[in-house]
Amino acid sequence: MRIVIVFESMYGATEQVARAVADGIDGAEVVNVDHAPADLTGVELLVVGGPTHAHGMSRAATRESAAQRVERPMLSRTGVREWLDSVGPVPRGLATAAFDTRLEKARVLTGAASLGVAKRLRRLGCRLVVPAESFFVGTDPADAGPKAGELDRARAWGAALGAAVRRTVS
Ligand SMILES: Cc1cc2nc3c(=O)[nH]c(=O)nc-3n(C[C@H](O)[C@H](O)[C@H](O)COP(=O)(O)O)c2cc1C
Repeated sequence: MRIVIVFESMYGATEQVARAVADGIDGAEVVNVDHAPADLTGVELLVVGGPTHAHGMSRAATRESAAQRVERPMLSRTGVREWLDSVGPVPRGLATAAFDTRLEKARVLTGAASLGVAKRLRRLGCRLVVPAESFFVGTDPADAGPKAGELDRARAWGAALGAAVRRTVS
């Protein structure tokens, strides 16, 4: 079963979450959105995650703003928004899931990139296997990374997702 996890990350938190989700799923490929395939033929589960910027998915301007906060290069140069807009034909009904990283406050205050990801996945004809999920980062996101316990939660989310898909695919 081919499982692909596409992540976008500026400072590394979303990449860490993506890798923890992959640990839970077992056998998943983890791909930076900069190198994500345009052709998803043969993929049976697609997981897409990115950081929440300005209440939603990043844009060129918010990525530029993220880059200006630190003196190191950003891990991703492009975003999941752009990738999802450019991806080729997607297998009809492809099993998918969306996640984001964001601050741990009420969602009405923070927004959540995963909601936009899920909407685009649905528009592409994909099936959302589980509701969109958020994983929380510290208040200085450029340095703090995921909050304590969040990588364990991501591993558990990955395991539940893998089990749900294997039940429907096999
Ligand atoms: C330009 C910018 C805008 C942000 N806007 C939000 C926001 O609206 N809501 C929120 O919860 N977090 C916001 N954040 C915090 C990010 O969600 C956080 O930096 C991200 O989860 C870290 O993931 P990364 O290390 O993979 O880049 C913002 C961060 C940046 C740099």
